[in-house]
Amino acid sequence: MISVAIDGPVGAGKSSVARASAKRLDFIYADTGALYRGVALYAVRNGISENDADFADKISAILHEITVELKIKEGDQRIFLCGEDVSEEIRLPEISMAASSVSSVPSVRDFLLDLQRDIAKKNNVLMDGRDIGTVVLPDAQLKIFITASPEIRARRRFEELINKGVETDFEQVLNDLNRRDYQDSHRTVAPLKMAEGAVLLDTSELSFEQAVDRVVELTETIVERNRT
Ligand code: DC
Repeated sequence: MISVAIDGPVGAGKSSVARASAKRLDFIYADTGALYRGVALYAVRNGISENDADFADKISAILHEITVELKIKEGDQRIFLCGEDVSEEIRLPEISMAASSVSSVPSVRDFLLDLQRDIAKKNNVLMDGRDIGTVVLPDAQLKIFITASPEIRARRRFEELINKGVETDFEQVLNDLNRRDYQDSHRTVAPLKMAEGAVLLDTSELSFEQAVDRVVELTETIVERNRT
């Protein structure tokens, strides 16, 4: 099996680029952020707030009640929380921030680790997240770190939310993005950082198609190498 680890900060285009590249390559696409978002949604629904003094303990205590699954339906990934399809709900901005907070709790990372590794065991996969190349799949045959300037990432995220009908303003999106980047890169366990040997792909000046072409090209080189 071939594993491609794709990491990078919020809004760098990881998900959309990885999804389109996986389709062209006939690989599975796995969006690991959706798993953290599923746990966050469960916490929010149960009244647990990131501002609670015993936030980490409260999260750890509910993990045994939770099942999260990634399922592929008609080529698209859906996320199920305790059997319920929550693919749309987990995209709300308040769940993004909560996901960043739950992801800093070590027991949550442990809880989701095997699930992610199992996907890679069974499929040729493009897996995106924050710690895929460093922790989840350190032996991935290819590691890519996708990034772009904060303003460009915030602009893309803003347009994505507006297109979905979510009411927001640009400053708010930029603030949330900077807060989330900071939190994701400064946590003690598995912080966001470029894995050793990763290829840096800065999409600031690239069109979506150019970014996809680059990921496909890099992956095809690995596929070819694996054949020989
Ligand atoms: O990729 P995303 O924005 O959907 O991820 C939501 C949050 O989950 C993100 O702020 C950090 C966390 N996350 C993580 O810690 N590790 C991953 N592999 C994926 C996401």
